[in-house]
Amino acid sequence: MSLQAKKRADYQPPAFLISTVKLTVKLHPTATRVVSILSITRQGEHSAPLVLDGNKLTLIALKLNGEAHTDYEESENTLTVNTQRDSFELYIETEIDPQNNKALEGLYLSGGAYCTQCEAEGFRRITYFLDRPDVLSVYTVTVIGDSRFPMLLSNGNPIDKGENADGTHYVTWHDPHPKPCYLFALVAGDFDLLCDTFITASGKQVALELYVDKGKKDQGHFALASLKRAMKWDEEVFGLEYDLDIYMIVAVDFFNMGAMENKGLNIFNSKFVLAEQASATDEDFFNVEAVIAHEYFHNWTGNRVTCRDWFQLSLKEGLTVFRDQQFSADMTSALSNRIKHVRVMREHQFAEDASAMSHPIRPEEVIEMNNFYTVTVYDKGAEVIRMFHTLLGPEKFRQGMDEYFRRHDGQAVTCDDFIAAMQSATETDLSHFARWYSQSGTPQIRLAHNFDKEQGVHNFTLSQYTKPTADQKEKTALYIPVAIEIIDHTGKQYQDEQGLIKDGLLILDKPEITFTVSSHTEQLTPVLLGNFSAPSKVENPLDIKGLLTIFTHAHDAFNRWDAMQSLYDRCIETLYQDTTAEISPAIWSSLSQAIESEKNNLELLGECLVIPSFETLCQSRENIEVARLINARNQFCDAFAANLNSVLLNIFKGIDGGTYVYNQDAVISRRCKNVILALLARSAENVSLVETQFKHADNMTDSLGALRASQHTCVFEQLMAKFEQQWAHDPLVLDKWFALHATQPNDNILATITMLSEHPQFSMGNPNRVRSLIGSFAFYNSEKFHALDGSGYKFVTDYLLKLDAINPQVAARIVTPLTQWQRFSETHQSAMKQQLARLLNHSGLSKDLFEKVSKSLAYDSASS
Ligand code: TRP
Ligand code: ZN
Repeated sequence: MSLQAKKRADYQPPAFLISTVKLTVKLHPTATRVVSILSITRQGEHSAPLVLDGNKLTLIALKLNGEAHTDYEESENTLTVNTQRDSFELYIETEIDPQNNKALEGLYLSGGAYCTQCEAEGFRRITYFLDRPDVLSVYTVTVIGDSRFPMLLSNGNPIDKGENADGTHYVTWHDPHPKPCYLFALVAGDFDLLCDTFITASGKQVALELYVDKGKKDQGHFALASLKRAMKWDEEVFGLEYDLDIYMIVAVDFFNMGAMENKGLNIFNSKFVLAEQASATDEDFFNVEAVIAHEYFHNWTGNRVTCRDWFQLSLKEGLTVFRDQQFSADMTSALSNRIKHVRVMREHQFAEDASAMSHPIRPEEVIEMNNFYTVTVYDKGAEVIRMFHTLLGPEKFRQGMDEYFRRHDGQAVTCDDFIAAMQSATETDLSHFARWYSQSGTPQIRLAHNFDKEQGVHNFTLSQYTKPTADQKEKTALYIPVAIEIIDHTGKQYQDEQGLIKDGLLILDKPEITFTVSSHTEQLTPVLLGNFSAPSKVENPLDIKGLLTIFTHAHDAFNRWDAMQSLYDRCIETLYQDTTAEISPAIWSSLSQAIESEKNNLELLGECLVIPSFETLCQSRENIEVARLINARNQFCDAFAANLNSVLLNIFKGIDGGTYVYNQDAVISRRCKNVILALLARSAENVSLVETQFKHADNMTDSLGALRASQHTCVFEQLMAKFEQQWAHDPLVLDKWFALHATQPNDNILATITMLSEHPQFSMGNPNRVRSLIGSFAFYNSEKFHALDGSGYKFVTDYLLKLDAINPQVAARIVTPLTQWQRFSETHQSAMKQQLARLLNHSGLSKDLFEKVSKSLAYDSASS
């Protein structure tokens, strides 16, 4: 096992290239044979041997130009072929064991079907190869299987098929687009098939095929319709057309992540394909559409233009997340999308940046690549692309994108190449902006404001500061686009004297910038970071009155929502500092008015009635005493529900359920209704509302809304039992049920989870089950995970030790909350580190867990 970190700076171009790959895969559960014929060419003047990557392979035969070749060495992770030839054909035959592949990387069996997952470095578990994204080859693949696997799929177009004498059959596929091996895919099984067609802008007909488990056809229509919307959108917004005759999507139950963009043959976690009224929530529908679009958009941003090396991952992921976010905003609503993504940034990305795993969107050092599919690379990466979009404006951004494809179609490139293409479209010098790619950590923006009454001048100083992070001690000022409004208590907008704020945007490219506004009014309110214009924290000096001014008068709806979040945070802080404190009646009456005033704007109202999560509250605090913060939050939620009961109840009753449809208005109504129900359920007299909704719900959003609301009530167990009976047959619905159990802050929660892990539908081998039960506990049952006696930490650790032996990738994700101990009080910290040390001492620990755990523990000694 190699525990050596690879460094971005050590990149070397490949010593050999592989122009064509001919693969023949003869499927067998425990002894699949893979024959690979490679055309290889030496690059440049050197005499080094050919070193291929391989993992868990049994070499059966090796031939060079048709002759048996014996001059080679095998090691645990490589096959070194000694030859002085510059150009040759290599024949490699290997045997692999898909049935015992529980890591779900390479070729494995998922519920009776064969499928592959090669990103990032899974192809080396299928055959010896140059497993790196800058080696692009044209693939011809023959899949051979028996009659239990009538459907045999791979990338590109089918070019041949037939029967073999031994009763097996085969299909041959050819993909004309050169691609790195991480985009290779193979699927074999017996599925229900949904077909459709799409005519591209230039008139080409594309066959669309969606493969789902038998009997689930009805749940596939929405995904297929989403695919067509995504294809159309990419033509309209980016001028990008699909480039093969066929586009296939396969849904499988055993999958480590969301989905995978293999060329022409996407493989999906079934959770992001299957959706119908009875069993899928509005959120599920939303996610299906977003993930379908994400993988489709990769066809250009990822596949046609790919990454030179894995340090450049954000080149494709940040950009593709940005593209799917823009798509979702166009399909649904810009505001709720923005809020959703900002919540992800604040709850998860800021936490990552404050931990030992902090890294820039283009990391410098990696031990296990799978650990770097992070919220930083993906979501902060998307925020950086969004800032390009803000700085250039939509037209020039599009020009930059066009130029990027013009220059790099068919190539494996770097983030610097992307920046250079964007630079070609704008006069703005982007060299300082590019620091977002190399600097980790969350910048904090501060605003100082003083008023010179005599002169009638308001002086503003905007400053930035980035705390040192685990990976990087020195920080410099970033180039930050800060959207700003300056308003007074009537909503009137003011301009700065210096003209630094242009079209509502101020570029903070120094440690601090000052500007002034002339006005005799004392009540000027600065409104910062409109639409979350940069992935930063804002230290807001405003009092409750200022926050209410923003809520009432700011033009930016995101700022209005954010002001409410800050207001709640202030109230919770008061209770955190002093449990006997009371929230003043004036605040409740202001809130009541605010709610009343938005009763016709259910979208904003619904989001404003969500009290910041515990995870969000953690981002602005240190030395956190978990129980005390959770109590303060609960106390606030209870008081909120009690004091605003009548206004909430009125709105709740006024929201017309109507007949079920899935459209934007209906989604907004259901969202608002369920957010309110969760608050109302905190008062015992409203429990019947929860029961009624549960009983009459004709869709999963309302059923689950009622169940979630019942978490604070005495009817929880009873409703959960009913729900289990109703849905025992549907694993994706049971995942929701597992997660609700796992997030209950019961005293006997650990016993409950242990019992549930023995549920007939639960299996440690299925990542969806593990994430919903163990992952939900670790990430979202903060009260019990952080129990002061350390029992929650120990429980998760015990589980991870078992899980790591079969699926390290998933284990390394679930360990995340344990590695983020820095924000908590000493008692928590030492109990968390004790468990991390247990992990580190475990013999046979995967490199996935080793990397995260060792970093987390090392941070300790470095900082103390
Ligand atoms: N490239 C995929 C995406 O973002 C995600 C991915 C990376 C993945 N590694 C994976 C998916 C491993 C499944 C398993 O769309
Ligand atoms: Zn992606």
